[in-house]
Amino acid sequence: MGAYASQLNCVILAAGEGKRMHASGSKVLCKVAGKEMLRWVIDAARASQVGELCVVASGKDVESAAEGCEICEQTKRLGTGHAVMCARGFLEPRAQGDTLVLCGDAPFIDRDTICGALDLHRLQGNAVTVISAEVEKPAGYGRIIRRGDSLAAIVEDRDCNDAEAEIQEINSGAYWFKTRALLEALESIKNNNAQGEYYLTDAVAIIIAKGLRAGCFRAENEFVALGANRPSELLRLNEIANRSAIERHLENGVHFVCADGVVIGPDVELGAGCTVEPNTQLYGRCKIGEGCVLGPGTLLTDCEVGEGCLINASQCAQSKIGSRVRIGPYVNIRPGSLIADEVKIGDFVEIKNSSIGRGSSIAHLTYIGDSDVGSFCNFGCGVVVVNYDGEEKRRTTVGDYAFIGCNTNLIAPVSVGDAAYTAAGTTVAQDVPAGALALGRVKQRNIEGWAAKKLQKYIEKKGGAPYAPQQFGGNLK
Ligand code: UD1
Ligand code: CA
Repeated sequence: MGAYASQLNCVILAAGEGKRMHASGSKVLCKVAGKEMLRWVIDAARASQVGELCVVASGKDVESAAEGCEICEQTKRLGTGHAVMCARGFLEPRAQGDTLVLCGDAPFIDRDTICGALDLHRLQGNAVTVISAEVEKPAGYGRIIRRGDSLAAIVEDRDCNDAEAEIQEINSGAYWFKTRALLEALESIKNNNAQGEYYLTDAVAIIIAKGLRAGCFRAENEFVALGANRPSELLRLNEIANRSAIERHLENGVHFVCADGVVIGPDVELGAGCTVEPNTQLYGRCKIGEGCVLGPGTLLTDCEVGEGCLINASQCAQSKIGSRVRIGPYVNIRPGSLIADEVKIGDFVEIKNSSIGRGSSIAHLTYIGDSDVGSFCNFGCGVVVVNYDGEEKRRTTVGDYAFIGCNTNLIAPVSVGDAAYTAAGTTVAQDVPAGALALGRVKQRNIEGWAAKKLQKYIEKKGGAPYAPQQFGGNLK
């Protein structure tokens, strides 16, 4: 679209309330396949290169989803036309070109539809081009009345006569406007209707009444207008999104044992030959290399994973994982972690904001936080990095080829040198030089026969022993 010289803007109407959805904040923040509906719409607009974006919102809670967009507040929900009026401050300095208006609660709008509609808008020289869709159940939507290749009117559901009610081509709620024509039409729309609202469809009617050209682009995507007003509709959007994600990955050579409990977000990339096992959920910007086995029961959010990894019954978020890494079961990799190639991380291990070097093994029951671990290290069972002293988090460093014995505590900030050892049960509070053994435990002494009295009491309490206790080395009768 670089060929078009004039300015393109996009206004996203997102001031819907979450009442019927029983959402606590803005409705547009309800998630479809793990991604806020507003983000779906913003991403579609960005993919279409529509220039600058403005989100009309009722609350500040949209700020993070609308990052990089100008936000205009609509404090009172007075209709779709009023919502666009709230974006006047954004549109007036950019009135040269065309403006795309989208609904923040219709997540399946897509690049092909937006660009196809703009092409028609340009070709026909329209002041407004409505994006329509052909649907089986048009109830609730505005109906499209065509005259030749132009748009004659949009008739809202409640105003339809019997013949109009039958029309299955509906207004998706998305439009391209000549920005100047939109701003002028907004000046004259009124709220003299039963609801007392300002309707954006009245702006379309005003443009048509002025004798300016109005067109209609019918989207091939049957889901462009679908939104969610209640939880059941949100589930339907989720099902559609997930089904289409699974189909996309099937075509790319991804294997699914069965799709039970599998949820895949729209921005997930999976390499050929990956297997996604049941109850696996992949959200955000996950990029998974070829031949990985994910699941059963794995949850990945915004992770980059290399080739040939196994991630079984584990969770990883905002982290980067190399190739041929084995993770799980029951591993939690928290944000900011960097796991190199051929690492093995076994059951009940938590890793947070840490890097683990190539070929290292952390097999069981271990916490590693705020640490930089070298290559080819071995962590025994039950190692704990004590990274937080109640006030500050500090970093720990472990060199290459280090061997951290079972039940070692590493009290940060501390460093263990290359090829150093820590004896099992050691609390490491001072740096360990390369090649040294840190031995930090009390020397053991055994008190012979100490247990006999205790055992006698226990047996009495239980009302007798099932077999002779002499074998315990005591002098019991
Ligand atoms: C609108 C259209 C209808 C179309 C339908 C498609 C009008 C008058 N009618 O109807 O022809 O078929 O969309 O879904 O425009 N919003 C605001 N502020 C408001 C009101 C709405 O931001 O004051 C936002 C909503 O969050 C939503 C979008 O605008 O994203 C559409 O609003 P909605 O109330 O769903 O419009 P409909 O009455 O369904
Ligand atoms: Ca709607």
